[in-house]
Amino acid sequence: MIKFFIHTFGCQMNECDSERVAGILSGAGGVPVDRLEDADVVVVNTCAVREKSEEKLFSYLGRIALLKRKKPLRLGVVGCVAQLRGVELVGPRLGVDFVLGPDNYAELPRLFGSPLQERFVSTEWSTAWRETPPGLIRRESRTSAYVTVMEGCNNFCSYCVVPFARGREKYRPLPSVLAEVADVAARGYKEVQLLGQNVNSYKDPETGAGFADLLRRVSEVDGIAWLRFLTSHPRRFPAEINRVMMERTNICRQVHLPLQSGSSAVLKKMRRGYSREMYLDVVTGLRGLIPDIALSTDIIVGFPGETERDFEQTLEALRIVRFSNIFSFRYSPRPLTRAADLVDDVPVAEKRRRLAAVQGLQKTIQLELNARAVGQCQRVLCQGPGKKTPELMSGRNEANQVVNFLSGRASCGDFVTVRITGFGPYSLRGEEIAP
Ligand code: 5AD
Ligand code: SF4
Repeated sequence: MIKFFIHTFGCQMNECDSERVAGILSGAGGVPVDRLEDADVVVVNTCAVREKSEEKLFSYLGRIALLKRKKPLRLGVVGCVAQLRGVELVGPRLGVDFVLGPDNYAELPRLFGSPLQERFVSTEWSTAWRETPPGLIRRESRTSAYVTVMEGCNNFCSYCVVPFARGREKYRPLPSVLAEVADVAARGYKEVQLLGQNVNSYKDPETGAGFADLLRRVSEVDGIAWLRFLTSHPRRFPAEINRVMMERTNICRQVHLPLQSGSSAVLKKMRRGYSREMYLDVVTGLRGLIPDIALSTDIIVGFPGETERDFEQTLEALRIVRFSNIFSFRYSPRPLTRAADLVDDVPVAEKRRRLAAVQGLQKTIQLELNARAVGQCQRVLCQGPGKKTPELMSGRNEANQVVNFLSGRASCGDFVTVRITGFGPYSLRGEEIAP
């Protein structure tokens, strides 16, 4: 019996891939363990999107190298860094025994038949969609299921390593998406999150149906109470998506729409394919049909050449749109990208200052937005006791905000009605009321 442990860095796409890795290893006879120290095989699923993500990986690998001195252990690196760095990761320096890119997880069962000392590397791209049978996915959550609809990205934003780490876009056939959604609904999942680096470029390989069609079809599958999707690209975000969202009540009124910068000049250098005005038009279109829609975004500060004036425009965009949540980062150059050739001329201290300013402003905005929620009754999908507040239950509302609430009866997977009684910048508090 081979015991395995998976550590995941990065985004939802990686979490979803780790569930697939866990399923494939279990299907081949492996057994998952909760503690790194108990494992015979450690798989590290990696993120390459920022310099910091790679730094965290190397310090984690150092920790495992120490463990490896004490017991026989096979260490694998998979995911984005595996794809980018490939064979250079393998060997005694880092203690890595196998490396698999995102298209090569079907090779994992090799671990079980091969001798302990065998090392292998697979980072070949496949051109077709590679199917994992729904039964072969070990999902972490009991309430919400990730379902991948596309992989890769053709956009080549100048700062972004994803097209190199995840390859060109590949779309999952629509019937296969529907089959997996039906499968998770039958297993009792209440929420489905459709995943892809760039979901609105989805195109069914058979019929050419676009993302709005896919969204409608998925929303019609019996038993899915809440449906979300990410990530959308502001360029070519079709108005049809807005209409489907308005018509289908089980699609959560929430969209993640990365802005990156509020300055058209910086957006141009980032090769985002839209201007500040075009982005704001997409927001106006969404809010025109769905006034209470919750919008979240990603922001990069300190891109090469970003002036104080450019940066002010990002702050101004945050004030105009009033996002319900943002993820903000300091720019870091990534290998193979076009921006890596630009002079990274915003000093680190200045990047830090800009990041703190963005986060400070956003905190104020979120406090103001959350204050307005007090007194409202919101539908919350309960995910179990809170991690920091075990005396309260924790869940998410339709806007995907964390809601911690007092309840006598709710359990994981229940929809409950919560009256909001308090708030912080990053979560709401409340109490369950009788349905
Ligand atoms: N530096 C900083 N942030 C980056 N992101 C992508 N590449 C970089 C980079 N080189 C951010 C973007 C993207 C999010 C997933 O990570 O905001 O939307
Ligand atoms: Fe990266 Fe741009 Fe593709 Fe997003 S759209 S994954 S930022 S290249």
